[in-house]
Amino acid sequence: MAMLPFTRPDLGPEEQAAAAEVLASGWITTGPKVAAFEQALAEYLGGGVQVLTFNSATSALEAVLLALGIGPGDEVIVPAMSFVATANVVTRSGAVPVFVDVEPVSRNIDPEAVRQAIGPRTRAILPVHFAGRSADLDALRSLAREHGLHLIEDAAQAIGTAWQGERIGTAGNPAVFSFHPNKNLTTIEGGAVAFADAALGERLRRLRFHGIVRDAEGGMDVPEWGGKMNLPDVHAAIGLVQLGRLDGFNTRRRELAQRYLTRLPAHPALRLPADVAGHSWHMFCIELDFAALGTSRAAVQARLQAAGIGTGIHYPAMHLFGLYRRLGYGPGDFPQAERIGEQTLTLPLFPAMLDTDVDRVCAALTELLEETPDA
Ligand SMILES: Cc1ncc(COP(=O)(O)O)c(C=O)c1O
Repeated sequence: MAMLPFTRPDLGPEEQAAAAEVLASGWITTGPKVAAFEQALAEYLGGGVQVLTFNSATSALEAVLLALGIGPGDEVIVPAMSFVATANVVTRSGAVPVFVDVEPVSRNIDPEAVRQAIGPRTRAILPVHFAGRSADLDALRSLAREHGLHLIEDAAQAIGTAWQGERIGTAGNPAVFSFHPNKNLTTIEGGAVAFADAALGERLRRLRFHGIVRDAEGGMDVPEWGGKMNLPDVHAAIGLVQLGRLDGFNTRRRELAQRYLTRLPAHPALRLPADVAGHSWHMFCIELDFAALGTSRAAVQARLQAAGIGTGIHYPAMHLFGLYRRLGYGPGDFPQAERIGEQTLTLPLFPAMLDTDVDRVCAALTELLEETPDA
């Protein structure tokens, strides 16, 4: 039986042709394709926002923090449940990430926990739209307004996601997307930031390329430090094709997720994600109470692997990593994030999957759960 991975990028002849065209053009790094991709992304998002691309979401987040003047002496509130980049970019800025717990089903930052974590050094809230499901932006925006904080959205997993009908990235505050191969849209590696403030854009543009500012006569100055964070045209050309396919990808992702939700059995040891309007279904992450089932995650993964089904783990709770334990965090601090970290399992979800693939995964899980009906 063919192996079903938990994710697979959907790259076809159109992406290959677009990349080949750029390779043959003589201009392969940042140039006209990047400009066209940024324009197309801004149009896709709507709301009159501007978009700048980066070579990753990590670079884009680092640049945003720097451009907003967030650094040593500052604190940024982040969810304890995310990919480690969300906290690492704060650490890299010189500010301190302040972890808070997440909500159990959405896995998104808990606004009440954010409220309690706000202190005199807090400069920003950095929510993640976990697995393509929007965080509670109404609550987070009002907290940010009330306390004069920046709201920086880690929308790495949320291209095409909407909150109350409003596409993530259109609001004007910085929102950062990732185009890594497992994302809903890929440029191989890449990222982008959507924003409204023209002065912020000017600074981001400098920061992503050595701090260089050019004048009309062709001269240049470097008024401040900048890095090397630009996206090449080959990647942007792939991104342009992928953007044209994105809504189709996301529709198919939702169909597959809904199929999982109707076919997976109700079982006390199984916690499912929920479908909500605007979810872009970047991942389908379940929780399994492995202890109650008398097994371990590794054993379940091995068993599914033997049945030709790949799975992932998204994610271990970040505050329990060595780097962050050194800030004083430890087990028991954030029960929801810790339970998710221990019990999470990502099931296969990507647009080219067949309905029968979902059925195969559901059958394998049902068999496993039926072995311990009273867990
Ligand atoms: C929530 C989150 N933030 C940030 C990143 C970093 O994205 P990139 O790999 O484009 O740097 C990722 C990537 O997986 C992510 O999932």
